[in-house]
Order: sequence, then C-alpha cells, then structure tokens
Amino acid sequence: TDLRPIRSPRGVPLLGHTPQIPATNPFEYFAELSKQFPEGIYGMDIAGIEQVFVYDPDLVAEVSDETRFFKQIDKTPLAHVRDFLNAGLFTAHQHEEEWGRAHRILLPAFSQRAMKGYFGQMLEIAQNLAGKWEAREGKPVKITDDYTRLTLDTIALSGFGYRFDSFDKDELHPFLNALLETLIESLRRSQELPMMTKLRKADDRKYRDNIRLMQDLVESVIKERREGKGGGEEDLLGLMLEATDPDTGKALTDDNVRDQVLTFLIAGHETTSGLLSFATYSLMRNPHVLAQAYAEVDRLMPGDTVPDYDTIMQMDVIPRILDETLRLWAPIPLIGKAPHEDTVIGGRYQLKKGTRVNILEGPLHTHPKAWDRPDEFDIDRWLPENRAKQHPHAYKPFGNGVRACIGRQFALTEARLVLALVLQKFKFSDTADYKMDVKEALTRKPGDFELVVRRRKEHE
Ligand code: HEM
Repeated sequence: TDLRPIRSPRGVPLLGHTPQIPATNPFEYFAELSKQFPEGIYGMDIAGIEQVFVYDPDLVAEVSDETRFFKQIDKTPLAHVRDFLNAGLFTAHQHEEEWGRAHRILLPAFSQRAMKGYFGQMLEIAQNLAGKWEAREGKPVKITDDYTRLTLDTIALSGFGYRFDSFDKDELHPFLNALLETLIESLRRSQELPMMTKLRKADDRKYRDNIRLMQDLVESVIKERREGKGGGEEDLLGLMLEATDPDTGKALTDDNVRDQVLTFLIAGHETTSGLLSFATYSLMRNPHVLAQAYAEVDRLMPGDTVPDYDTIMQMDVIPRILDETLRLWAPIPLIGKAPHEDTVIGGRYQLKKGTRVNILEGPLHTHPKAWDRPDEFDIDRWLPENRAKQHPHAYKPFGNGVRACIGRQFALTEARLVLALVLQKFKFSDTADYKMDVKEALTRKPGDFELVVRRRKEHE
C-alpha cells in the first residue's frame, strides 16, 4: 500500500496546536491554513483531540459516504451546544431514538406543500421589514440585524404561532443576545482544555443564565399553545405536541419538545439571516448581477405587486444568487463527521475509527479541482446545463445525507421572497464603503454591515 501521513502545521510539545487557534473567527483560520496543504487534507491537535480537515472534493465524496462516516457530536462544538439543545434534531446522536422519532414526525412539515402553507406568514414578516426600511428613507440601516429580526420572527410565527414583534423595538430581543453569547461560549469551550473552562467561573454563570433565559422563552411559547393561543395543528409545534412517530407510534416527550422548539428557533433563523446578509453584500459588489435581479423582480412583480407563492417559484435569477452566495459564504463553515471503523481515504490517508473529520465548506466550495475562477461571484454556474457538469461533492452548504438540513426548502423559500420584496422596493448605497468583517459564532455573518436604503422610483 501507499499510505502517507496527514501533514500538519507546526505545533508545540504537549499543547499541540491549541495555542495558535485564534479566540475569534477560528473557522476563518482553518480555511486560511488550507492554502498551505494543497493535497486537500491536514491534521491538527486541538485541546488534546486529533482533528482532520478535508476539502478536496474527492476526499469529501468519501467522507460523505454514510456507510462509512456518520455525523459526529462528541469532540465537536456540538457537544457543548448539547448543554442547551440536548437531543434536539441538530445535536442528537445518530443512535439516540429521539433523532429518528422527531425526524419522521417533522418531515411532513418541511415538504414543498408545507412551504405554501407558511407563505402568508413569511410575507407578513417580510412586509414588516419593508415597512421599517421605508420609514428610514435615506438613512443607514443595520442590514444583518434587521435580517436577523426577520428570520427569527418568521420561524417563530410560521413554526410556532408565536410573535416576537422584533420590528416594533429598537433593541434586538434579549433572546438573540442570550443566544449569541451562548453560541460563542460553547464554541470557545470546544477549543480549550476543560480545566480552562472550569477556571472561568463568571463566564460559566453567564452561560447558565443565558440558557435559562432561552428555555424560559421556549416554555412560554409552549404554554401559549397549550392554552389554545395562536398557530395551527399542522405547524411545527402542532406536530410536536400531537403527532406520533409513524414507525414506533411514540410521541415526543415534553423535554424533547422543549429542546426541539429551541433547536428550530435557533437553526431556523441564524443561518438564513447570514444568507440574506451575504447575498445583499454580494449584490453590492456585483452590479451586473444586481441589474439582472432588478430586471427579474420588475418582470414578475411590476409596481407594487404583492408576490404570491407561485411568483416566488417562477424565479430564476434570485435562486441562482442564493446558490452562489451559499457557495462563497456558507453560513455553517464546517461540518463534523467520523468514520464508523478504521479506514483509508484517497487510497493513502489512514483514519482511526471515531476520528473527528471536519469538512471545510469554504475551501471545498472554492476548490480548483471543481470550480473555475473559484473566487468569482458567477450566478451562471447555476444554470441547469452548468449545474449538471458540477462535481457531485463540491457543494454542501446544507450538509450531507440523513443529517442534512431539514429546513432547506423553508430557508430558500423565505430568502427568495425577502430578497425579491426588498429589491422590488429599495435601492441601496454603500456610503461607508463596507469591508467584509465576518463574525463567527458557530455560524457566520457579516459584522456591522450597514447600507443606506432608499425607495426605488419608477424606471430606476
Ligand atoms: C441541519 C445549513 C436553514 C433546521 C443543517 C446542517 C447544515 C445546515 C449545514 C447540517 C449540520 C451538520 O451536519 O452538523 C443550513 C443553512 C440554512 C439553514 C445554510 C439557511 C440558509 C435552516 C432552517 C431550518 C433549519 C430555516 C428550520 C426551519 C435544521 C435542522 C437541522 C439542520 C433541524 C438538523 C437536521 C438533523 O440533523 O436531523 N442545516 N440550514 N435549517 N438544519 Fe439547517
């Protein structure tokens, strides 16, 4: 055989690579390191755990084979996210019965047909955003914050019949602040030795308080429903409370319902707000694409036409903008897998059973083996004839296999609608000449992204 070692950057004795992992934006650092290892794989020893990073599309194809690799929770940041999401869908171990049960119960709520059912609520919240921006004519708006208000309000209303009314307030909802701090803390914990975490007593107290705040909110959401307020039997909460698993006949436990509601409030908004923010940023940088988007919106939604579900489904340019944004700016920068047994990938790299293998989205999505002019924002890659020629494992913004994103259609439907409505009504100017400043908290978003918004006039 032709086994070769997996190369590593230089580390230090005993501490391995831990000291060189930056406290902020570690994923950006991992992506940067990939440039030193053109073979598409490298290894590091972080907080005593051997980790492997892969981004060559052929290696990723092997890691995506579910007969050989599974979604790893232990030894990843998700092990700490389990402090507050327990066996919710995102953080459940594959072997936990809670995963299959919730997956089967909730799948119907994410069918294409179900999206039509959420459309009215998605539109209502998108119009709240537009209303806020209309009132700020000519002034700078915090783009990412407003998309976060929008995506949180949308998942809460369409999934749970609960209203955050985020656009009524100047401050972000305390839930969002608690969530941000919690995510950053859990990410930090996964990057340091447990004894360091123990020493940070005040941070631990804050972490627990934040988790309590989020769980209290979730409990009030569930209580409202039990008292018969808001929502329908077929929304997410309706299914969680009433439906039973078609395979086993079992219902979700009360604790698991709480964990699932919090899971969906988080997973259902963080990433979509990142997508919308990066898409808006990309349009500002690519005026010829922006012009195509305006042309599509003006054709399908002339004047103040209110879009319906079919309008959104007829779009061609806007969906390709979203596809390309997810290629260059995947909101979830890394997904964790591990082999069931000792194995060899690429015919030469040996991996022990259970090794943490991270798929690095950014380097994969720009790998020269799979992408021409990889750094160029080119929506024509997503024309059907070009899509058909793509490497089958070079694009994974929604993850892989049975543990891929259940909310993909939801996210894409919402993002299409919001982008269309915003482009129908507004033009943007980047008076502050924004430089991309990615903020990572498990997911990533543009930090402090502001643009000036103005209403579009006829023929502009
Ligand atoms: C899982 C990305 C929107 C709910 C995932 C995973 C990725 C992802 C990469 C797999 C993570 C892993 O392997 O560890 C995204 C992106 C989104 C998005 C890029 C938006 C652009 C949503 C929405 C919802 C949602 C809107 C809910 C309404 C979930 C859930 C899982 C998941 C529950 C766990 C699925 C399972 O393991 O069974 N998402 N997501 N996501 N996502 Fe999304």
